[in-house]
Amino acid sequence: MKVLFAGGKGLLGTNIIPLFKKRFDVAGFDIDEWDITDRKAGEAIIAGERPDALINCAAVTDVDGCEDKRELAEKINSHGAAIIADICSKYRVKLVHISTDYVFDGTKGLPYTEEDTPNPISFYGKTKLWGEEQVLAKAPSSLIIRSQWLYGEGGRHFISKVIEIARERGSIEVVNDQKGSPTYAKDIAEPLSILIEKGESGIYHICNDGSCTWYELAQEVFMTLGMDIQVTAVSSQALNRKAARPACSVFDTKKVRNTTGIAMRSWQEALREYLESSRPV
Ligand SMILES: NC(=O)c1ccc[n+]([C@@H]2O[C@H](COP(=O)([O-])OP(=O)(O)OC[C@H]3O[C@@H](n4cnc5c(N)ncnc54)[C@H](OP(=O)(O)O)[C@@H]3O)[C@@H](O)[C@H]2O)c1
Repeated sequence: MKVLFAGGKGLLGTNIIPLFKKRFDVAGFDIDEWDITDRKAGEAIIAGERPDALINCAAVTDVDGCEDKRELAEKINSHGAAIIADICSKYRVKLVHISTDYVFDGTKGLPYTEEDTPNPISFYGKTKLWGEEQVLAKAPSSLIIRSQWLYGEGGRHFISKVIEIARERGSIEVVNDQKGSPTYAKDIAEPLSILIEKGESGIYHICNDGSCTWYELAQEVFMTLGMDIQVTAVSSQALNRKAARPACSVFDTKKVRNTTGIAMRSWQEALREYLESSRPV
């Protein structure tokens, strides 16, 4: 089976492409070779490569930046997804489109299932939801994979950032009123591979098991690394960031577990492996 990646040099692509290569014939592309908003370029690549599946990891992921750069965010996260869906539909390629917990408003009070109605509270979340809607309208047999709180090798993410700040200052303030499931990007590879091999379609939530706040995640990082850092809990309001974030965007992952037979490991176990194997920063 031949699988192509768009946006493959980002955090998710960097982590799952090497694992996908053990199972599939893989070709990875990023914006330098394939801008997903360029229909002609996309069509030439798909027509030339003739893949069975395309995994779209390309996106503008700077959540606060999307509030200012609205045109760019919409162009890539929504219109780019629509263009890719058109091409996949034309060439009968299975599209796997990656999305986010930020399509939800975080007020449910229980884990979100795939049937819950999205209600994004940031512009990033809105553009990602529009992207999902375009994909499902234009290529209804697509897979939409929503994940959250990703970290892993390569790229910058919450964990690499807090370690960097803590090393510089010896202390750090972290928000304690947003809850989610930290997810080792690599852990998405196995259930996603199975979903593709089984020819599944529709929306799936994939993340590591369990949940915590960003503050609790930072504490776990420093404890695991044996770093003596003063971590102070602050409210989202105190940080005053441009984009609103969901207060609790924990996923219900029964659907992916029942379909693939894969029970995702706990976020603590995945984090330990990442910190021990990767020596971030
Ligand atoms: N990171 C998270 O915590 C998280 C959580 C939930 C869902 N997701 C979703 O997971 C997917 C992958 O995220 P990620 O964390 O891997 O993001 P990332 O590290 O920002 O990677 C995205 C990649 O897409 C590229 N890109 C941007 N615009 C493009 C375009 N027009 N054409 C082709 N490539 C383009 C980026 O290149 P440049 O860097 O050069 O712009 C980057 O290499 C995204 O859909 C994101 O919404 C991420």
